[in-house]
Amino acid sequence: MCGIIAITTSMKKPVSKMITTGLKRLEYRGYDSVGISLIHDGKIHTLKDKGQIDLVEKKLDLRSLKGTTGIGHTRWATHGPPNKENAHPHADCTGNITVVHNGIIENYLDLKQYLLKKGHKFSSETDTEVIAHLVEEELKQSDTSMKVIHAFKRVITKIEGTYAITLLHTAEPETIFLAKKDSPLVIGVQDDIKFAASDIPAFLEYTKKVIALNNGEIATITPKTVYIEKNGFKIQPKTFTVTWTVESAQKSGYPHFMLKEIHEQPISLRNTMTINSKKIEQASQMILNAKKIVFLACGTSYYAGLSGFHQFQRILKNKPVYSVIASEYQLYSHLFDKGTLIIAVSQSGETLDVMKAVSYARKQGSDLISIANVIDSSIPRLSQLSLYTKAGPEIGVAATKTHTAQVLLLARIILQLEFETGIIDVNKFDDYKKQLSEETPRVVRTIINQNEFKAKRLASIIADKQHSYFLARGKSMPVALEGALKLKEISYIHAEAFPAGESKHGPIAIVEKDFPVIMIAPNDWTANKILGNAEEMRARGAYIISITERDHPIIKRSDYSFIIPKAFSSLIEPITYVVPLQMIAYYTSVYKGLDPDKPKNLAKTVTVE
Ligand code: F6R
Repeated sequence: MCGIIAITTSMKKPVSKMITTGLKRLEYRGYDSVGISLIHDGKIHTLKDKGQIDLVEKKLDLRSLKGTTGIGHTRWATHGPPNKENAHPHADCTGNITVVHNGIIENYLDLKQYLLKKGHKFSSETDTEVIAHLVEEELKQSDTSMKVIHAFKRVITKIEGTYAITLLHTAEPETIFLAKKDSPLVIGVQDDIKFAASDIPAFLEYTKKVIALNNGEIATITPKTVYIEKNGFKIQPKTFTVTWTVESAQKSGYPHFMLKEIHEQPISLRNTMTINSKKIEQASQMILNAKKIVFLACGTSYYAGLSGFHQFQRILKNKPVYSVIASEYQLYSHLFDKGTLIIAVSQSGETLDVMKAVSYARKQGSDLISIANVIDSSIPRLSQLSLYTKAGPEIGVAATKTHTAQVLLLARIILQLEFETGIIDVNKFDDYKKQLSEETPRVVRTIINQNEFKAKRLASIIADKQHSYFLARGKSMPVALEGALKLKEISYIHAEAFPAGESKHGPIAIVEKDFPVIMIAPNDWTANKILGNAEEMRARGAYIISITERDHPIIKRSDYSFIIPKAFSSLIEPITYVVPLQMIAYYTSVYKGLDPDKPKNLAKTVTVE
């Protein structure tokens, strides 16, 4: 996720100030580096650097750039580390073209190879830079009458992947060239000024009149005009007027970041699956070569690791696998030695408990793979192999989209291990891989759509409760643990998760009429057993809420049910089953008048022991 903005105006004042303000509104989309380019006196002037907008703005005095047409970018690093060279905008060899991009150009290596052969010089490791050089190459190869728009259109037919692109060329100093596929791009219109941005808040203070570009559309904006076409045919722009306030719009119209992030899961899951296969193969080799494996993490990330741990145990039959809460690592210090492979899971990559545990393990000679969401954070920097979820910035304190992205990344590794160990053949491997990237986001979207209203209604039923239980069996336990954590941390209802079979050994003692019991019940070998546990609870008057599949007998024994589509693989069940639990927690918090984004006593990144 990156944030992009472009502005062109016939008014005399420079647009650098508006671009800088717009980038601040887009910072939630990424903050690894910042850059802007403006055309002034027939030349492109670019300022960019690593770091967040406030720092870069002060350091480079971004607002000092002159020019009435410009583009800007705030980056969430994907290709190449977050440094000045990889910061957008990117130029061609002549310096006449500058471009910013959000998305991933999947075939950029092939395109780069082609351009290198043609003599182009690259200044970054990004996929984006190929766009500027491709436009340059098209213009070079054509006769001199070729307009920039024609070269731009040809380039768009050559790139594959996802993109929102804005591009400037000194030959047409008032025009901004735009293209969109699968990454957001909206146009803002006012009489003498036009905007394009990843999100409306970027220009909301200047206009509420918006045109949303659709996939496959190519557009140009000048101070007075908007031109859009698709497949060579002109499109009549449809303008709508938004009613958002600047403050609320930063959440793209959602009342809270947490809800926005729950809804972003289909995108974050799809992006996470674009990870380079070589990295997964490397991870799988490290796992297969290790003498023992230890998952290390805290909180929600620990539960993601726990899902991985169960599957690793199933596959790596003769290899010891452990899952350790990072703050408890001293108790397991005997596990950390040469030959041990640590898999550290941490969204922020900065959690001190995890840092301490992995630092100790590294000193004892253990190897380290990290799974983080924040690029180049501390824990990845200690690792031999850093794998990144591509969930984008998560602002709500309670982790949602980063958790499901962690589970998916682990599922991808597990699939690789199943293939390497001969559990599945190459056809199944390819098929499941495709399903992980295509089917998982689709199923999650369906689950959100079908269950959001139900979660909202359930919130009004359970909001006044003091306690709740989350019950599961087998591999569903991490889901129950995560559901209980979500509910307690943002709604302050005490929530306890335990294996359903344990209830009769103590916890059932406090169950009374209308005590909420949430049962995670996939339709597998656990079906009859968990049905029995539900009956025990019902007999004491519990209010049974089941998260289950169509045809599971528990539905008839439940007071309230959420139906989850049967997963194509049990590997994604910890994702599909957790989504309704996130929504139950969110809506219960809201129903109680609390702020789910900022639960009391908690912080997003925990850098204390
Ligand atoms: C709960 C939550 C926390 C974090 C934990 C670890 O919603 O977000 O439990 O999972 O503090 O944080 P990371 O993943 O940054 O190491």
